[in-house]
Amino acid sequence: MPGDREGLDDHDELEVDLPWLYAKTGLKWRSAGPGVLAAWVADMDFPTPPVVRRALTDLAGFGDLGYPEWLHDAVPVQEAFARHMTQRYGWSPDPAEVRDFSDIIQALQAVLHVCTQSGDAVAMHVPAYPPFLETLAAMNRRLVPIPVERTANGWEFDTERLARDVAATDARALILVNPQNPTGRSFTRSELDAIATVAAARDLVVIADEVHADLTYPPNVHTPFASISAGAAGRTVTLTSATKAFNLAGIRCAVAHVGSAAVRRSFAAMPPLIFGTASVPGVTATLAAWQDGDPWLSAVRRRLDDNRRLLEKALRPLGVGYLPPDATYLAWLDCRDLGLPGDPAAFFLDRAQIKLSPGPSFGGGGEGFARLNFATSGALLTQICDRMAAAVQQR
Ligand SMILES: Cc1ncc(COP(=O)(O)O)c(C=O)c1O
Repeated sequence: MPGDREGLDDHDELEVDLPWLYAKTGLKWRSAGPGVLAAWVADMDFPTPPVVRRALTDLAGFGDLGYPEWLHDAVPVQEAFARHMTQRYGWSPDPAEVRDFSDIIQALQAVLHVCTQSGDAVAMHVPAYPPFLETLAAMNRRLVPIPVERTANGWEFDTERLARDVAATDARALILVNPQNPTGRSFTRSELDAIATVAAARDLVVIADEVHADLTYPPNVHTPFASISAGAAGRTVTLTSATKAFNLAGIRCAVAHVGSAAVRRSFAAMPPLIFGTASVPGVTATLAAWQDGDPWLSAVRRRLDDNRRLLEKALRPLGVGYLPPDATYLAWLDCRDLGLPGDPAAFFLDRAQIKLSPGPSFGGGGEGFARLNFATSGALLTQICDRMAAAVQQR
């Protein structure tokens, strides 16, 4: 594809080397321990996209870290988000309904704070991203689990059960993580329509976390929940950022499109800076990624696509249940047939020096599973698989 190499600049940005990874100060590798290969927390091993590095270097080099012009006005990520959604998904949210946050968990907690009360029930697919389960517990919201289960067609959930459970618990909100973490499912239009029908019938606020959307593999298609109808848009808060697709989790800049007028009114009634504001480097990095990062992202998606297939070849013969994800760089590994002693993540850390995310921390049905992050070089992923295979063979 013409221009695809552009984002990769002067070095092959998608190669990684171990000394560099171990020298990094971030959570993923710092916590891995000597000799351990980190395949857990959702950071990619690839260096920061060159367009983002350049934007941040220019900002710091020019000494431009004072109060931004936009401090009391529209933050430029609002417009950039709206353009990004229009270009990628044909959805054109009103920038005036978009606000910045430092990260998605903060935004989720803020929305739950204004649209639900202590003791209220909130529906969410399980297994689920652990901090969201922890958020519900910490805020004393009752989880209404929507089990995502492996069927002959892949990962599916029962929409009739969803309707029943939401009614029986009088749920007030539904957290829709799409693409889903940890299964990597990209929900279809008909699944989203079914959720929208339940949400309308029970007057739910839908909190749509779509942070992994730009990592959807064709022919799967990401459909923003708020784009499916005016009714859905009017009850939805869409959360996203550039942090997953462009590997920027440390920059702390996220956006929320607040389609629900009730949630907008609640936010407007709060002290203006109670949720803080995105930082100048965070906004600079996000703008660079969304405006100029496409060639890099295309190259990353090709690498990740290769990796999700490489995993299939390596893990299937071992007896690990694995369905290549529709989106994300996360592999949800069913290790129940391996006959491992205890939690698979603990087994692979001890016997293979591979750090995975433990399945039970994702709740509903996570026992016997582990989550593997395959956003790394082909060489390192092969090494990870080889170590896991040797440990399984010697168990
Ligand atoms: C589905 C999902 N939402 C949110 C987050 C975290 O986002 P943030 O770091 O902006 O809170 C992650 C991180 O892996 C995630 O997978």
